[in-house]
Amino acid sequence: MTDADSIDWGRLRDAASAAMSNAYVPYSKFPVGAAAYASDGRIVTGCNVENASYGVGLCAECGLVSNLAMTGGGQLVAFACVNGNGETLMPCGRCRQLLFEHSAPGMLLDTVSGIRTIDEVLPDAFGPRQLDEFSR
Ligand code: THU
Repeated sequence: MTDADSIDWGRLRDAASAAMSNAYVPYSKFPVGAAAYASDGRIVTGCNVENASYGVGLCAECGLVSNLAMTGGGQLVAFACVNGNGETLMPCGRCRQLLFEHSAPGMLLDTVSGIRTIDEVLPDAFGPRQLDEFSR
């Protein structure tokens, strides 16, 4: 578990805003940036990257999770996501699942209703444990 006061949320939001400036959004014109502290303290980021085949577009969180794996792996400790105005944005449902897979226990998220845990934004989540339980 991480203490919310130990997280530099301003730095995380700034990193999310910087990532947002790289978004490729010719279709929605809705840039998104995401940033998270990994368990070793580094920051990983992502932006949304859309596609002419609309449904194939990638959310900012997809890039962030890819960045996590590419730069040494680990787990996500604290997360922030912003829109084109730098305002806090909730991760979509699919992206909550993406984040859950790579979450440290008690992962914190900056949300529109304050700092929340991953379990609060994705209650009773389906995850690797369910697969393990079935195969036993
Ligand atoms: N989007 C994200 O990048 N992350 C979210 O959690 C919500 C939605 C993107 C997808 C699409 O490129 C644009 O926002 C409008 O839906």
